[in-house]
Amino acid sequence: MAERPYIVGNWKMNGTRAMLTEARAIDRAAQRLMKVEVALAPPFTLIHAVHKEVEQIGVGAQDCHAAKDGAFTGDVSAAMVADAGAKFVILGHSERRQGHGESDALVAAKIGAALSAGLRVILCCGESLETRDAGRAEAFVLGQLRSAFAHVDDAAEKLTVAYEPIWAIGTGRTAGLDDIAAMHAAIRGLIGETFGEEAAGQVRILYGGSVKPENAREILALEDVDGALVGGASLTAENFLGIVHAAIGDDAV
Ligand code: 13P
Repeated sequence: MAERPYIVGNWKMNGTRAMLTEARAIDRAAQRLMKVEVALAPPFTLIHAVHKEVEQIGVGAQDCHAAKDGAFTGDVSAAMVADAGAKFVILGHSERRQGHGESDALVAAKIGAALSAGLRVILCCGESLETRDAGRAEAFVLGQLRSAFAHVDDAAEKLTVAYEPIWAIGTGRTAGLDDIAAMHAAIRGLIGETFGEEAAGQVRILYGGSVKPENAREILALEDVDGALVGGASLTAENFLGIVHAAIGDDAV
């Protein structure tokens, strides 16, 4: 695990202003836990409100458009989320790839847009169960990343990778520890080949998929797992802080 683990909550399409109390509680706790970096990615509608509420934790977006601006009804640009207070954006999430037909090429273009707007990027990758069962998980995930890396110059400063096997998202099923460890090692190997060994030591690789307070400790203890990208369990401060505490080997919540 990285010296300073990174625990990111992805609220997905959840949350109205009533959820600001959870963000505040998470932020208050994070102020006392400097050994772990904590962040939340609320829906677009709450980015500014969460940014105004919190002092310690990072705030990010869950997506952005690839274009700078223009006639794209209903879309939101990287500069817009940055203006609202986001410091990073999650890109290439499987729910975007599947639900919105996002291709590797589109994800790569979005990465370019996000970096140009000064945002850091959490780049998601992950295989379907079918691909895993066919023995092609690693080739598939590394293929997704190769395409996305084409737009990244300064990986060490700007990039985090999140490995989220699709079949483990929201299903209560986590990948086996050996499988997680092997995939994270392969991802770190590719980062080294692409950006050099120094960057490989600096880019954080998060695991995502049914991470909970009860399983976080063993997942986060794996050598190449530098943190977690958390969906369902990030929606309450109690659950999310359980994971944050687990990241620093602390049972107290
Ligand atoms: P769950 O933690 O709900 O499985 O979601 C994981 C995820 O997709 C985070 O981006």
